[in-house]
Amino acid sequence: MISPDIQQRLVDIRRDIHQHPELSWQESRTAAKVCQALDEIGLPYRSNVGETGVVAEIAGRKKGPYIALRADMDALPIVEDTGLSFSSQVEGVMHACAHDGHTSMLLGAAMLLSKGEPPPLPVRLIFQPAEETVLGAKRLIDEGVLEDVAMIFGGHIDRHYPCGSLIVTEGAVNASSDKFSIEISGQGGHAARPHEAIDAVVVGSLLVISLQTIVSREINPAHPSVVSIGRFDAGTAGNVIAGHALLEGSIRAQDPEVRSDLHNSIRRIADSVAQLHDAGITVEIRKGPPPLINTDEMTALARKAALQTVDKDKVMKLFTANMGGEDFAYYLDHVPGCYIRYGAQIPGREGYPAHSSRFDFDEEALGIGATYLATVAREAASLVDS
Ligand code: NI
Repeated sequence: MISPDIQQRLVDIRRDIHQHPELSWQESRTAAKVCQALDEIGLPYRSNVGETGVVAEIAGRKKGPYIALRADMDALPIVEDTGLSFSSQVEGVMHACAHDGHTSMLLGAAMLLSKGEPPPLPVRLIFQPAEETVLGAKRLIDEGVLEDVAMIFGGHIDRHYPCGSLIVTEGAVNASSDKFSIEISGQGGHAARPHEAIDAVVVGSLLVISLQTIVSREINPAHPSVVSIGRFDAGTAGNVIAGHALLEGSIRAQDPEVRSDLHNSIRRIADSVAQLHDAGITVEIRKGPPPLINTDEMTALARKAALQTVDKDKVMKLFTANMGGEDFAYYLDHVPGCYIRYGAQIPGREGYPAHSSRFDFDEEALGIGATYLATVAREAASLVDS
């Protein structure tokens, strides 16, 4: 168990960050807070890594390679409505995805790893900007944060699971998250003379319905996937046939092959509908993070650390597939690692998910997450040949 004074320190840090949330790439106050805490612990660090990131290092008994631990620091453009005494003081910005908690946890791990016996291998602490826009991890990788790193670990606070639990799951724990937009060019005209027009609303409507058949009719139902259209813009007046329409949507998959099948099917159906109605249709797919897949070996290691952190019955698995995206997946493209979830449910608040204006979590999870991260950093050394 973490000492009450460290737990209190983590709560204080979390609440301070919570009161001063910053959007992606603007995390300068948060980074300064991290640097201040690292100074107090006495750890060397580099700030302004990829704009606002902070990377600190803890010496190990051996020189290398490093075990990396990562937390994200950014908030969301949401007006907070929790009524908490430490609510956001920045209008329209809120820590509604617990990244305030993740930052505090990683500082807690730094405190624990700096006490007593040094870890077997050096530990690199990555305080990452811009997870919400899924651009931060890539940028930090370009900045070299994974150089000489053997493994990387991280996790997310999750209010679906009881506080005190650690959710350690093999396989896909986050989905790939890609965006697409489809432009439809028809021919505008008079509502009374449809034969002189190519109606972008009709073409777009057919396309929306046809795209629904990808997941329902083309993809193996054993592989979770989603194609959602969240935006359909067209038209200016009831008596005018729209010549142009714009669709925007999101594509999720847990399997890399399914992901590329979804992309191909969207393009094929769009081309077919264009031909069917003599319209122009262009598809743009913007790739986000790949699926986040925990390998068996790394998951076994994470589970071993989780079992040293909480009781056996509190080490759980995901109840259900998670189709959210997470840019931690980019790190796993380069080095092995594992991503877990920290149970942090507050009874009575289960109805307020992450990204809700009323989201909050049980702060007991901070000390538990910190202990897990410190433990996994020590345990990971056993898998590194040296
Ligand atoms: Ni998040």
